[in-house]
Amino acid sequence: MTSRNQSLPGRPPGFTYQQTKRGLLRKKGPLALQCEDIPLTKLAQKFGTPLYVYSSQTISERLSAFDRAFRDIPHTICYSVKANSNLSILRLLARKGCGFDVVSGGELERVMTADRRAAKRVVFSGVGKTREEITAALKAGTLLFNIESESELWALAECAGRLRATAPIAFRVNPDVAAETHPYISTGLHKHKFGVPISKARALYAEASGVRYLKVRGVSVHIGSQITDASPFGEAMSRVADLVRELRRDGHEIDYVDAGGGLGISYDQPDAATFPQQVAAYAAALTKPLRELKIHLLLEPGRSIVGPAGALLTSIIYKKSNNGKKFLIVDAAMNDLIRPALYGAFHEIVPVTVHTDQLAKSEATDIVGPVCETGDFFGRDRTLPMVEERDVLAILDVGAYGMVLASNYNTRPRPAEVLVSGKSVKLIRRREKVSDLLRAEL
Ligand code: LLP
Repeated sequence: MTSRNQSLPGRPPGFTYQQTKRGLLRKKGPLALQCEDIPLTKLAQKFGTPLYVYSSQTISERLSAFDRAFRDIPHTICYSVKANSNLSILRLLARKGCGFDVVSGGELERVMTADRRAAKRVVFSGVGKTREEITAALKAGTLLFNIESESELWALAECAGRLRATAPIAFRVNPDVAAETHPYISTGLHKHKFGVPISKARALYAEASGVRYLKVRGVSVHIGSQITDASPFGEAMSRVADLVRELRRDGHEIDYVDAGGGLGISYDQPDAATFPQQVAAYAAALTKPLRELKIHLLLEPGRSIVGPAGALLTSIIYKKSNNGKKFLIVDAAMNDLIRPALYGAFHEIVPVTVHTDQLAKSEATDIVGPVCETGDFFGRDRTLPMVEERDVLAILDVGAYGMVLASNYNTRPRPAEVLVSGKSVKLIRRREKVSDLLRAEL
């Protein structure tokens, strides 16, 4: 028997602490962090650590919340594959009718492998699409090419001509809107490499409309990632709406507006309860400027769908104290999850088992990996309940931009991934072996 404990963090419905009972008298045991109905300690024992664990229920619920928020406008959610590209996760989303935003031939191949029919719901973004990638996307029957430069327009026309296929296009315009986020993931200012300046858009559309094998279909925009305030989205969209009106006046058929992704999540507290309101505010900001325009809205969310659905389990190898400064050295490292090292990102870190008598004895400690870099840390001066060597910790909200950014630095094989659904668990990527890494080398 289990019951929810409210005093410790958790991410309902994906990750929550449950009170365990043990013995014939069913005395209170320790609190156990679970993913859906499965205690994480069991997963760590069975599959080893470091281990990525995902909650399928969380992914499905967040996708549905998105869909509900946009119910008043014709729309297609094109999940941004870059956030988490595991085939099983793509399959889960494809089964729910989701489309996909891809940025490489590799991502397109993943989508096609997960569900061949989903190609009709693929938008292809990216500043540097190669001719090979463009050709593959044309053959697959991509819904929309988001063009980011004049040179790319000609490359696409050339590839489409060779196949005698018509390429549906939108320009990704840069609306010159500032959004508060980390500078590495802000994209909507003119100094950024992305898109074409909105001021040049009419001339580019005029150019494109005369080109055989190209068909103007829409306008795209994406202003950055991890943006928690809805207003910059609204501002960008009202500039896009003005452009749509101008383009229609110029005689172009604009059926689609692609709003990109970028909706942020809360990394410092659970957001399951507030997420529906947050997406609703986002939807209101996006759709208000589009009213009357009768367009089909494309959305490219990544992080907001899968971020809170994932945790990284890691075991404490050693406890160490340098002149009073305490460290927990864990078996995951910056190669497995680079967000703290790369962006100074905060991820909540909690023990998967908490003995209630240890709660009072908390201590401030750094949680670091074994890689030979000072940047190899997951948390600094974190206050955790007393933990011991071999205990397992969970690093939360790593479902997006976790495993996809993992590398083999220090010749460390990448972690395994499992997908939980209620009481069932599926290994969705086996742990890499050193031999896998050596195989490609001559
Ligand atoms: N569409 C385009 C054109 C994008 O460039 C991105 C993200 C998305 C959609 C999805 O954005 P999302 O909804 O996930 O915010 N590695 C960084 C995030 C990089 C985002 C890149 N582009 C991180 O770990 O925070």
